[in-house]
Amino acid sequence: MTADPLEIYLEESDLARALRADVRAGLTAVPRWLPPKWFYDARGSELFEQITRLPEYYPTRAERAVLAERAAEIARLTDAKTLIELGSGSSEKTRLLLDALTAHGTLGTFVPLDVSVSALRQSTAEIAAGYPGLRVRGIVGDFTRHLDRLPTGGRRLVAFLGGTIGNLLPAERSNFLAAMRAALERGDWLLLGTDLVKDPTVLIPAYDDAAGVTAEFNRNVLRVLNRELDANFDVAAFDHVATWDADQRWIEMRLRAGRPMRVRVLDLDLVFAEGEELRTEISAKFRPADVDRELTDAGFAVQGRWTDDDGLFAVTLAQAV
Ligand code: SAH
Ligand code: AVI
Repeated sequence: MTADPLEIYLEESDLARALRADVRAGLTAVPRWLPPKWFYDARGSELFEQITRLPEYYPTRAERAVLAERAAEIARLTDAKTLIELGSGSSEKTRLLLDALTAHGTLGTFVPLDVSVSALRQSTAEIAAGYPGLRVRGIVGDFTRHLDRLPTGGRRLVAFLGGTIGNLLPAERSNFLAAMRAALERGDWLLLGTDLVKDPTVLIPAYDDAAGVTAEFNRNVLRVLNRELDANFDVAAFDHVATWDADQRWIEMRLRAGRPMRVRVLDLDLVFAEGEELRTEISAKFRPADVDRELTDAGFAVQGRWTDDDGLFAVTLAQAV
């Protein structure tokens, strides 16, 4: 079967408007920041795929190991008819769920949602070709804004994998979980991947790899601004920084100006001092009890949690109550 045409909730014009608003708010703030969703143009999505294969970047391998072991159990517990995936990217690990739900005999529809049109085009075409009989409805949307547009009815399982929930700030995260619960019916399921707190000697290299792929991914956001907003960042003049904040329990990625710079973007004339840092991403790491509390506070009951053999990454199955 071929995939349905993508359902577009974020037209080019909405994306451009949202990007302008974020850039104006973030680059005029002290300290400056940008939201991580703007990493993911075609090049950014491809760089993320390269990150997932790096020796230092353990989350993808660890989560894949959990899903490989538990997908059949998840299929049995959920009986899902519709699998929705938020921030789906390549949906590569999701195939383990698709295989298990197909074998279980309940699955009819797969709905990946992502802000990246390029990632979604490729993944929907590949999955439709690989799973004849499965309806594939890709949605171009923002999971912080468009959860009310998800398909309704049937037994739904929403997968939010990769630890992407950790890229939301705490207030965004609780808003997201509340909106997620509101979008579901009692009895629907949420499968949530969360990276776990661990020693910084493991965490830091995962976000500052020897080959420099994460540095390129980080700098890519400036390329997006140059192209989309006709900005004039000297991309190579920014250094990649990854730090561990033990109090907040998150990795913070920043771009540090290697020399004093003046940058024009929109109608802004920005002055960067040498060494000034721009925050581009947080990646929160969790303790299992925190995941439980946040899910419970949002109206979910935790029904299962699994980790890989090394205890690096957790996958939690929760039901809307
Ligand atoms: N789930 C995949 C991909 C993770 S990368 C995995 O586990 O490997 C994060 C993905 O989320 C990217 O594809 C990015 O485009 C998407 N994304 C980031 N912010 C988003 C947002 N606000 N709304 C929708 N998609 C978003
Ligand atoms: C998508 N997200 C969960 C990744 C993470 O680990 O926070 C994005 C990433 N940033 C740097 N490397 C990978």
